Amino acid sequence: MSKLALLGGSQIITNQNEELFLWPIVTPEMEEAVLEVLRKRKISSMDITVEFEKEYAEWLGVKYALAHNNGTSAIHSSLFGLGIGRGDEVICPNMTYWASCVPVFSLGGTVVLADIDPDTLCIDPQDIERRITKRTKAIVVVHYSGVPADMDVIIALARKRNIAVLEDCSHSHGSLYKGQMTGTFGEVAGFSLTSVKSFPIGEGGMLATNDRQIYERAIAFSHYARHNDFLTLPDLKTGAGVPWGGYKYRLNQLCSAIGRVQLKSYPEQMVEIDRAMNAFWDMLEGVPGIRSHRPSEGSGNTKGGWYNPLGHYNRDELGGLSITRFCAAVQAEGVTACEPGCNIALQTHPLFNTLDVYGDGKPTILANAHPETDPRQDPQTLPVSTGIQAKMFQVPWFKKLDPEAIKPFAAAFRKVAECYEELLPEDPGDPEQIGSWGTSTLTVKR
Ligand SMILES: Cc1ncc(COP(=O)(O)O)c(C=O)c1O
Repeated sequence: MSKLALLGGSQIITNQNEELFLWPIVTPEMEEAVLEVLRKRKISSMDITVEFEKEYAEWLGVKYALAHNNGTSAIHSSLFGLGIGRGDEVICPNMTYWASCVPVFSLGGTVVLADIDPDTLCIDPQDIERRITKRTKAIVVVHYSGVPADMDVIIALARKRNIAVLEDCSHSHGSLYKGQMTGTFGEVAGFSLTSVKSFPIGEGGMLATNDRQIYERAIAFSHYARHNDFLTLPDLKTGAGVPWGGYKYRLNQLCSAIGRVQLKSYPEQMVEIDRAMNAFWDMLEGVPGIRSHRPSEGSGNTKGGWYNPLGHYNRDELGGLSITRFCAAVQAEGVTACEPGCNIALQTHPLFNTLDVYGDGKPTILANAHPETDPRQDPQTLPVSTGIQAKMFQVPWFKKLDPEAIKPFAAAFRKVAECYEELLPEDPGDPEQIGSWGTSTLTVKR
């Protein structure tokens, strides 16, 4: 009989230690901070949020932080802050969560998708170069799965052409690029702070910038209650009182209070997660078919809180075994967090091809573009981001450093990789689509 649990053998993990994965870590201090807001009936006020913003900006090392009700709205305001408007083109990686760029359409701009680097999973600087036109106004950089993008090259090429950089740091709170915090390289950065993220506060987002103009434009756009006290630039002050975008993106203070406590514990939590995840991957060093997705040692790059940790899969080293069957076998060993895939390539969605969202009589992606251009991308020019889903798999996201408890998880991956030949005969192959539009459930259920 096979040793593999999928084929009738015994399972490695029969009783998962939930302590390893509990997230967010709720402390008595956090509970008290939330209760305090409730008792003082300050849920919709702004004083605690303003303190949270100051502390977040200080932690990050930027001048201004503006809290939002989620990461999508922080990115929306950031884009407006940069002045994205009619006919502007924004370059965005083809493999990311949709919120990195879809808000561009509602500002009258259009999206140009670029390919990613197969190692970092972040936007490929060389492909950015190929997509730049006279109308390119901004580049969105996503530090995907916490791994920093190649910021030296990206910033240099953007500066040379006077193009702004928006860092989407929704996966990379505290990640360092050559020792410097992600979110401090571009003109502006947006962070998602939902409960599933590395920096969880419930439901929230943060805009961060050193640029007063961007900060105030974001306030004008979506934070009308602050207009009188926060707007100083004459052009913006004249429009005070009504949010220019018609959006109201204030963060509620229950979440701000959580955020303030989270800020105190996050540096330590990052260290523990980093050690735990590195311990897990070190246990798997040299196992055929699988490779860690983490910055190389000595690079000065880190993965912050390791949001949505992934591994690279090389089927050629496992006799062509499909990633779907590989993951099913690992799951059968008791590792529930082992789904194949990452985000589906945006370019395959109707929104980036045919959907007419605003009734223009043509696809929105064209309606907002220059009449002589078609920003829709030929999938053949995006080969990495349209095929990477079958080469990545999710691994458990350990929040506690407990090597003895982590060992069985590594053993499950090793066992499946070492017994791969037993899985080959009945391998049905991969479905047509692997991955998901969101990141919390990584497979498309059929
Ligand atoms: C890369 C990326 N950008 C933006 C967002 C949007 O954040 P939120 O869900 O807080 O609106 C997410 C959320 O999953 C994300 O993964």
